[in-house]
Amino acid sequence: MNALVIGGGGEGIGRAISRAFATAGAAVAVADIDPERARDAAKELTEAGARAVPLTGDVRSRPAVDGFVADTVAGFGRLDTLVTVVGGQVAFVPAVRLHEMSDDDWDLAYEMNLRYVARAVRAAIRAFLAQGSGGSIVSVGSVAGIMAAPTQAGYGAAKAGLASLARTVAAEYAGDKIRMNIVACGAISTATANSAPPDEVPEIPMGRLGVPGDAAVAAVYLASPASSYVTGQSLVVDGGVTVRGPFSV
Ligand SMILES: NC(=O)c1ccc[n+]([C@@H]2O[C@H](COP(=O)([O-])OP(=O)(O)OC[C@H]3O[C@@H](n4cnc5c(N)ncnc54)[C@H](O)[C@@H]3O)[C@@H](O)[C@H]2O)c1
Repeated sequence: MNALVIGGGGEGIGRAISRAFATAGAAVAVADIDPERARDAAKELTEAGARAVPLTGDVRSRPAVDGFVADTVAGFGRLDTLVTVVGGQVAFVPAVRLHEMSDDDWDLAYEMNLRYVARAVRAAIRAFLAQGSGGSIVSVGSVAGIMAAPTQAGYGAAKAGLASLARTVAAEYAGDKIRMNIVACGAISTATANSAPPDEVPEIPMGRLGVPGDAAVAAVYLASPASSYVTGQSLVVDGGVTVRGPFSV
């Protein structure tokens, strides 16, 4: 499997996904705005015995996003899997109630969580169709796209849009053997090591925050032939938060 992970250099979910794909035997193109992170991640994967290349660019630039796909195809000979990780709201725009949110911040939340993903998805689909091979797309989404997202309205709306995009891609391209699914994350602690469960959190039914590895194994599953009959879905990785109502014991 040849995978492109956009945001794959990050210390949190991004790196965990890059590592998990490499461990599963994939060649990984690690794309990131930060050249050092992309290089570090590719070096780490290569030292662990995988094939990996660093790519640098900003997802806000269309040529950069198209370039990630083109460079992966050029470097590995083909693309099998696109994973999009870049996103979030707090990292990019202030957390405020909707009436206080500026148009620019709304647009940025949309751009960082949905607009570039749609661009990357279009480029990947073109590559898959040209190869005649099919392919799999996995996007990191959020329970903020399923539940209310107080002070993160733009983020929640964009992540809900991402799930819609996955359903549409699934329906439009099922006949081309192209699948798209979402890993809808709950609260993932990106401050701790990927394998170490952080402190107990009683508000979460499973009693702890998620770790990046929890999202990464879900992404590998959704990209792999093990999920070949699964498309257009959101796999929720949240320790049970979205299934517990307010009156549960
Ligand atoms: N951590 C959580 O609790 C949580 C919860 C729900 C969803 N998520 C989702 O997880 C994803 C992010 O996870 P993370 O914070 O662990 O990632 P991460 O920090 O591991 O990786 C993100 C990478 O994106 C890169 N990046 C930032 N801006 C970029 C740009 N303009 N162009 C290219 N690359 C850019 C960063 O350099 C970074 O390396 C987002 O999609 C977010 O919505 C996280």
